[in-house]
Amino acid sequence: MSESLPASLPALLDELERFGRNNDATIAERPRRMLNITRDTGQFLGVLVRATNARRVLEIGTSNGYSTLWLAAAASAIKGHVATVEVSESKLALAAENFMRSGLAHVITQIHGEAGQALEATPTGSVDLLFLDSERSEYAAWWPQIRRVLRPGGLLVVDNATSHAAEMAPLVALVAADAGFTTCTVPVGNGEFLATKGGGMS
Ligand SMILES: C[S@@+](CC[C@H](N)C(=O)[O-])C[C@H]1O[C@@H](n2cnc3c(N)ncnc32)[C@H](O)[C@@H]1O
Repeated sequence: MSESLPASLPALLDELERFGRNNDATIAERPRRMLNITRDTGQFLGVLVRATNARRVLEIGTSNGYSTLWLAAAASAIKGHVATVEVSESKLALAAENFMRSGLAHVITQIHGEAGQALEATPTGSVDLLFLDSERSEYAAWWPQIRRVLRPGGLLVVDNATSHAAEMAPLVALVAADAGFTTCTVPVGNGEFLATKGGGMS
């Protein structure tokens, strides 16, 4: 992380990791679980944002904002911005509080709503990096919109590529069959599926 980031951010990330771990260990009901990415996934996202100079980041699936903070920390260092979509009102509120505490709220826009609709409302070619961590059964249906909103050279990153490979298979098959994208799966955290918009190998 950069020296220009809020000094309290590392402590907040530590706190959110403990909170997510304890919360998810005791609560079985999926809507009330935080389901945060792993720390190494956060670090990986930060590197991707900086290395690709992704100033326009869109996240699908905010939860309480843990992954958003990794994206936003990197985006703020390159004068970028993160928009993040969440359908749950209670998680939206949790995330808003965390964003205020982080000192990064000024680079984050929260979108309250259903991701399919949020994608439809997103202008064509307006996203440099899209991080997808939401309802996996919907991913294949969202693919035409994801494809549209990414700019040429833009990057799609999808969490749980190895932890939930069967649920990811329909999306992976669609993207892999698309000659306009180059893909790979990286063994970081729960497995990250990457697809960049531009000439696939066939
Ligand atoms: C795995 S959690 C996201 C975790 C978060 N990315 C993190 O690492 O901190 C998935 C989130 O997607 C939200 N979600 C599920 N279906 C959605 C939909 N159709 N539109 C928007 N958000 C949705 C859930 O409420 C949940 O908070």
